[in-house]
Amino acid sequence: MSSSTEPRRRAQDPGATPTTSHASASPSSPAVPAATGAPDGTGARERFLAGVRSGRWLRPVLLANLVAEVVIVITGGVVRLTGSGLGCPDWPTCADGSVTPVVHQAEGFHKYIEFGNRLLTGPVGLLAVAALLAVVLLRPPRPRLRVVALLPVLGVLVQAVVGGITVHTDLSPITVSAHFLISMALIAVSTLLYLRAGEGDGDPRPVVPPAVRTLAVALSATTAAVLVVGTVVTGSGPHSGDADQPARYGFDPRTVSWLHADLVLLLVGLLVGLLVALHVAPSTPTARRRAWWVLGVVLVQGLIGYVQYATDLPVVLVALHMLGACLLVVAVTALWTSLRERTDAGVVVPSR
Ligand code: HEM
Repeated sequence: MSSSTEPRRRAQDPGATPTTSHASASPSSPAVPAATGAPDGTGARERFLAGVRSGRWLRPVLLANLVAEVVIVITGGVVRLTGSGLGCPDWPTCADGSVTPVVHQAEGFHKYIEFGNRLLTGPVGLLAVAALLAVVLLRPPRPRLRVVALLPVLGVLVQAVVGGITVHTDLSPITVSAHFLISMALIAVSTLLYLRAGEGDGDPRPVVPPAVRTLAVALSATTAAVLVVGTVVTGSGPHSGDADQPARYGFDPRTVSWLHADLVLLLVGLLVGLLVALHVAPSTPTARRRAWWVLGVVLVQGLIGYVQYATDLPVVLVALHMLGACLLVVAVTALWTSLRERTDAGVVVPSR
């Protein structure tokens, strides 16, 4: 919890230029003494640390963490769509007790694709750790933000284990779905972390009436249902991730596709209702703008979904559909955060 002696912070639109938040304080802000230069390089190190503590690097590092979480979903999709899911048939080694692919492996180019995706876990994990450090080193400290910053690190560890289970279960559709859905949760958490960095650490204060919040809860639950059923459609279709021995849910692909699309129609209905509510009830321009963004993403994503369904799932469209799912999670999380404001404890911010 922030103390009353901390500099005042305002909740603000992440797109807006920050004013007095930790995330934007300059290295020369009163909270962090300016570093003195020294010819042996200590000065540069101190200046860098002072920049980290002041929050100068915070938003770029948190944004990089979010982008990395999205990129690894798409590269994971490339593994699946090229049938490279068991390119490395073992885990944590790739094959024959070797961590890297071996030349005589039977898996051809698939082993390199699968191994490349495994390698990406390194940069993604490092960025999650960098995000945590960027938050932990902030001065004055932001304990509430630290809790959020810990989640991407834990998530990457969980994903490394689930990825291993996915290999050991020969790409069981249940573990493949879980792997994808945990990534969606990680994208939501990383988006939240990025947006929370621009806010204060006081208690959240709703900026919309309870009924609008209830509508937003229904919208989020439906989004989650669309994502879950989407993975069931994938697990019932041809893109199993391993062309030789496809493990499938066994549902009729046509039936689950239509269930998936029906949930999307429900999502559009809820979204239109939420947009109307945000325009007639008290709300903020940020909340209305973000709701329109969600609608835009849903419509484009829905169009891609119908086209890929009608054209027998070309891999490029399937990959775009995965990207659309990631962007929807970002947009819905951003909408959520705009339905409340957080300032520093005791600081009153005029409603927008
Ligand atoms: C808000 C709109 C939508 C979202 C968020 C969404 C999300 C998803 C997700 C998360 C997956 C699973 C991806 C994976 O496991 O790798 C998926 C798969 C799929 N979706 Fe959607 N979807 C949407 C709309 C639609 C629509 C309208 C259709 C039309 C029928 C559709 C058709 C499909 C099909 C056919 C698959 C399986 C692709 C494959 O075999 O890899 N989607 N969707």
